[in-house]
Amino acid sequence: MKKILSVVGARPNFIKIAPLAKALKKYRKEVRHLLCHTGQHFDERMSEIFFDQLQMPKPDFNLGVGGGSHASQTARIMLELEKVIDEQKPDLVVVPGDVNSTLAAALVASKMGIPVAHVEAGLRSYDKTMPEEINRIVTDVVSDYLFVTEHSGMHNLRDEGMDDDKIFFVGNTMIDTLDANYEAIEACPITKEMGLTPEKYIVATFHRPSNVDDAENLKALMDTLGRLADERKLVFPVHPRTRKNIEAFGLKGRIPKGLILTEPLGYIEFLSLMRYAELVITDSGGIQEETTYMNVQCITVRKNTERPVTIDVGTNHLVGTSMEKVERTAMDILGGTTKPGRIPELWDGKAARRIAEILMEHKED
Ligand code: UD1
Ligand code: UDP
Repeated sequence: MKKILSVVGARPNFIKIAPLAKALKKYRKEVRHLLCHTGQHFDERMSEIFFDQLQMPKPDFNLGVGGGSHASQTARIMLELEKVIDEQKPDLVVVPGDVNSTLAAALVASKMGIPVAHVEAGLRSYDKTMPEEINRIVTDVVSDYLFVTEHSGMHNLRDEGMDDDKIFFVGNTMIDTLDANYEAIEACPITKEMGLTPEKYIVATFHRPSNVDDAENLKALMDTLGRLADERKLVFPVHPRTRKNIEAFGLKGRIPKGLILTEPLGYIEFLSLMRYAELVITDSGGIQEETTYMNVQCITVRKNTERPVTIDVGTNHLVGTSMEKVERTAMDILGGTTKPGRIPELWDGKAARRIAEILMEHKED
């Protein structure tokens, strides 16, 4: 019996691993799949709600590490995970995405001689001021299976000299989750409950340190969203990092009129809001992909993206961090100037099945 341990910690990780947990069930006679939650994200709305809505198994281990500086968070995950791996002796460790939990788990497993599979390998923003870029590079270097979501990832890994035998173009497990839940997303009553008219409102999310950790940047962003809220209703589910900073920078009493701030939303509710939105404005990684899949216009407030397929074939507009540019692009889109998009290759709901097949074909010796 092969033992596979998947390590997750943050909101996007849960969404990316849910379909793999399901796909591995097909092989339950040959594989025991264990799930370890590092506890990087811990609020009910950042964690448990995804396990419930995506019908994921409860984690077998919870390391309970919580927040902290990069070094302390990564180190605590490493220390705690080492004990789990030591006790469980998995044959393979699976890590999704690019968060600190991904990096920590990949380092611990590889140093203990356990093969590592990276789901969402090869993405590069070529911007090392992003903590995620360092996490992506290091995770890929120590991984034995590199599961890639888009062509740019294949090129990046080959350019970095990775062994071709390790690289697998499988598609996107985050899109598997979206595909599997599409009926529930379309049927979800949240738009109606919030009094929104389909195709006549905007959704925004922000949590990248470059946008929300600096008081001036966050204030400028909120002001811009406030002006757009004069044009259309604008819903802004607030990430815990952003919430803390709104409070710390004294912006709480100065939230522009018209902005509808909410708690982080459950997966089905949030995807449904995006599905019927006229425009999404974000700095999220995953949301650039989900809007492309759903053919919803998306403005990405960042200088670069590690997901260029969403620009090249999708509905994503990468506008940089100038607020004038954000506002101008948003006004153009609200005025009807939209970018046509199509769904990238292999974003077909079957990525996790491909990954499971590959993992089952390869035997760790
Ligand atoms: C992390 C990832 C980022 C990813 C994001 C997804 C890293 C370096 N960053 O950023 O790549 O895009 O998750 O959402 O791994 N907090 C709570 N409750 C929670 C979760 C976080 O209060 O449930 C607080 C933490 O205590 C901390 C802050 O929010 O003060 C940031 O959390 P952290 O996990 O360090 O980074 P994120 O900004 O969430
Ligand atoms: N998401 C959600 N509720 C929210 C905001 C986001 O379910 O209130 C989902 C979103 O659709 C995507 C994932 O969380 O599937 C992305 O997480 P996030 O933006 O936090 O991380 P990133 O992708 O930037 O790493």
